Amino acid sequence: MKDPFGRSINYLRVSVTDLCNLRCKYCMPKEGVYKRKHEQILSIEEIFKVVKASVNLGIEKVRITGGEPLVRKGMIHLIEKISNLEEIKDVALTTNGTLLKKYAKDLKHAGLKRVNISLDTLKAEKYSEITRGGRLGDVLEGIEEAKKIGLFPVKLNVVVIGGFNDDEIMDFVNLTIKENIEVRFIELMPIGQASKWAKSKFLSNDVLKYQLKDLIPVYEGDKSSPAQYFKFADAKGKVGFINPISHHFCKYCNRIRLTADGRLKPCLHSNKEIDLKSILRQKNGNLEDMIKIAIYKKPKEHKLNEKDHQPIIRDMVRIGG
Ligand code: GTP
Ligand code: 5AD
Ligand code: SF4
Repeated sequence: MKDPFGRSINYLRVSVTDLCNLRCKYCMPKEGVYKRKHEQILSIEEIFKVVKASVNLGIEKVRITGGEPLVRKGMIHLIEKISNLEEIKDVALTTNGTLLKKYAKDLKHAGLKRVNISLDTLKAEKYSEITRGGRLGDVLEGIEEAKKIGLFPVKLNVVVIGGFNDDEIMDFVNLTIKENIEVRFIELMPIGQASKWAKSKFLSNDVLKYQLKDLIPVYEGDKSSPAQYFKFADAKGKVGFINPISHHFCKYCNRIRLTADGRLKPCLHSNKEIDLKSILRQKNGNLEDMIKIAIYKKPKEHKLNEKDHQPIIRDMVRIGG
């Protein structure tokens, strides 16, 4: 289905839980988030109903997010059901990677195609600092398992934070030389926990790109991918830049987001939300009509760079990235 600006909406991001086994400083409050009551979040069956209704409106790609999606029970079953839908071409997962050693094999069997793993530092102490207690070894083991099992391509999401990990850019880039993985540098966005301090720690990807002069552009067919890709000559993997602030990609945006509490968000950076949970729980609710309304309400672009931008209310952990 097309939105009012002619963009084809074919990508649904589904956040299955607000909970996470880590508490990254830019994503979650120090005290964590309160656990919602059972009835406040969509059941696996309800999530699947939304996916099916979305498929009828043209969704072909589903990404499961969180919180940390692998802390929720029933994920393997959900992924299996989604990947069995004929119209679905891509089922992917965004994860912190710490539980992949345990679940990669079952996920692959269920039909999951690939994983994007969040990793902001390659140093154990710093990893523990930014995640408030996480163990780097767990993610590294998860990455190895994902590669071994063939959840391909493995993409690493690195949020660039001035004064924290800007000294590790080359270490990350070097990972792409010998291995066929994608390292994607993401500009820090002022959203949720990061909204107060993102500006002072922001580093444009233009600066990173300037430092990495020998990178050769890799032209991807998929314009709606948020990343621009490059590689070093002879490197096996790729380096991607996701520039939501310096060069936003709203013009090509193809996505809507379902939150764990059953709201459909037409845009990451807008407070507009459509309540699907109530519709799901009504006898004669028309889910497809409500999804259409969300698509019609999709704004043309985000206003993050404008002076009077109103920060969005939800923490990132309650949206799913
Ligand atoms: P691929 O399907 O592999 O291209 O994944 P993806 O980039 O769509 O998903 P992922 O969960 O890995 O998201 C990577 C980052 O891109 C997220 O952290 C967000 O910061 C950013 N991002 C994704 N979608 C949007 C969007 O619609 N708007 C903005 N501003 N940023 C987004
Ligand atoms: N800015 C940029 N990226 C963010 N993510 C979470 N919060 C922010 C932010 N403020 C990223 C995570 C994860 C992805 C889904 O969203 O690191 O990789
Ligand atoms: Fe958890 Fe991901 Fe948020 Fe970190 S960024 S707290 S790993 S959901």
